[in-house]
Amino acid sequence: MVDISVKIGKLKLKNPVMSASGTFGLEYGELLDINSLGALVLKTITYEPRQGNPAPRIAEVSSGMLNSIGLENKGLEDFVKKKVPKLKGIKIPVIASIAGNNAKEYAALAARLGRIAKIAAIEVNLSCPNVRHGTREGLIAQDAEATQDVISAVRKAASCALIAKLTPNVSDISKIALAAQKAGADALLVANTFPAMAVDIETGKPRLGNITGGLSGPALKPVILKMVWELYNKIEIPIIGCGGIMDYKDAVEFMLCGASAIQVGTATFVNPAAPVEIIKGIGKYMKEKKMAGPGQLIGKIKVGSLWRL
Ligand SMILES: Cc1cc2nc3c(=O)[nH]c(=O)nc-3n(C[C@H](O)[C@H](O)[C@H](O)COP(=O)(O)O)c2cc1C
Repeated sequence: MVDISVKIGKLKLKNPVMSASGTFGLEYGELLDINSLGALVLKTITYEPRQGNPAPRIAEVSSGMLNSIGLENKGLEDFVKKKVPKLKGIKIPVIASIAGNNAKEYAALAARLGRIAKIAAIEVNLSCPNVRHGTREGLIAQDAEATQDVISAVRKAASCALIAKLTPNVSDISKIALAAQKAGADALLVANTFPAMAVDIETGKPRLGNITGGLSGPALKPVILKMVWELYNKIEIPIIGCGGIMDYKDAVEFMLCGASAIQVGTATFVNPAAPVEIIKGIGKYMKEKKMAGPGQLIGKIKVGSLWRL
């Protein structure tokens, strides 16, 4: 067996494949062995309960899907009381995902979750395209200063591993990535969905109740891949790639471009076993290429001498 274990800050994962927030829950345990994943990432929670956006919240589009869930969840206290006990049988690292209206709310969420032994890391969702953050225009991850404020506050509030989830909807992702790194993030998650929409031409109405939503799936992959490659050459903390990873080949592409680990979201809507197949595929690929460990894969894209950023 090839060793495909990776380290993300303090987190040691037996393989580099995680579920993507909001796309995968404990109910998937009926379809695959959740404990075979590298880590389980939970749906984003907020301090107060949120109703989410009006239906329809999902639409299939060419090469992907749109969603506008709007972070529907029952809030922090419900999560701690009702969801955390259900994680008992999970033996892999569990990563909680949080979103707040401001740095104070993010810190309060992190302080509470950071004290729960079952939570190995916190994913800081700075990039949900379907919600407004208090009175701010745009996303936190579109503003380097706001990113730094939120990650610093979370860093002070919790000592577990912190993952900053960025948006691809920026002109220069490295500015945001550097701000997150400086503020103490242990890893970057690149990235969330891209703002998008679709229209039903029979009714003339938008296909999402919220009019716009976030694009995920294969259409997103080449865009995010370039961001991962750019960041790999500019930052020091590990990168987790996420966007349109449908099979092991996509995962290997991300790792060649510099991702230490990857997350799988939309693929599980098509094939719930996709994450498990991806784990096997990465191992088989590395064995065939006679790679002794992920260090021989991560960032090993062969670009020749012509490239410069
Ligand atoms: C239905 C749906 C719900 C999602 N909910 C969340 C969420 O709660 N928090 C979050 O950070 N990302 C959420 N995402 C974004 C995914 O975690 C992931 O970043 C994105 O879909 C890109 O990966 P993919 O192309 O593999 O799906 C959601 C995506 C989908 C499709």
